[in-house]
Amino acid sequence: MNLVLLGPPGAGKGTQAKRLIEKLAIPQISTGDLLRQAVKDETELGLQAKVKMETGELVPDDVVIGMVTQRLAQDDCKAGFILDGFPRAVGQAEALEDLLASVGRGLEHVVSIEVPEEELVRRLTGRRSCPACGAMFHVSFNPPKQSGICDACKGELITRADDNEETIRNRISVFRQQTEPLKDFYQAKGLLRGIDGSGTPAEIENIIAKVISKA
Ligand code: AP5
Ligand code: MG
Ligand code: ZN
Repeated sequence: MNLVLLGPPGAGKGTQAKRLIEKLAIPQISTGDLLRQAVKDETELGLQAKVKMETGELVPDDVVIGMVTQRLAQDDCKAGFILDGFPRAVGQAEALEDLLASVGRGLEHVVSIEVPEEELVRRLTGRRSCPACGAMFHVSFNPPKQSGICDACKGELITRADDNEETIRNRISVFRQQTEPLKDFYQAKGLLRGIDGSGTPAEIENIIAKVISKA
């Protein structure tokens, strides 16, 4: 199954993608995670992306399209994939469409996760992530057993560089301006599945499972 998770920062794209990986046995492709890895490795691409990410602006289309093209060509994507955080501009959506069409494939569902803005800010200001294994926590909604320490690998938890209120507000505004138009783009193609993302992670997982099991 070829899936896109669409939604504002903090909607739970990463949280739901991790749950879906197990259910569907297909990989999560998060452009945010790929870019953070490049920043950490100080690659040329990472150095280019760093400032954009720290201020909450989008990294140029050609950079992320190149990354996704390479990733989708890998063997583990043959049975399908879950795109998390891509596409997030109309140019990216068009490039993805061309790329999939060129290999005789297409998207099955674009799940748009809707969450009110104040809830997004609460989720992101309290998020803590494990850079070692990718596990995600929230200081109140999903706290680790021991404060600041990853339950899964005992690594030290961090606050992402873009999870401060000023950058969060800008990321939401960039989403409204550049990414939200994709809802109309995919609606017109009959692929959009809008869902209420304000319940618990388990509730939202069930809603997603229902919408993607329908034709
Ligand atoms: P990216 O990493 O994609 O960040 P984002 O879109 O801002 O989304 P987040 O990862 O912050 O939120 P999420 O929806 O994954 O929520 P999560 O599950 O973590 O992108 C970062 C940057 O990279 C961009 O700003 C841009 O610069 C660049 N970039 C990336 N892709 C790009 C592209 N395609 N083009 C150009 N630039 C690109 O959940 C958040 C928190 O809430 C967690 O603490 C979690 O535990 C908690 N939580 C989740 N679900 C629930 C729930 N149901 N109830 C309570 N708490 C919950
Ligand atoms: Mg994410
Ligand atoms: Zn960990």
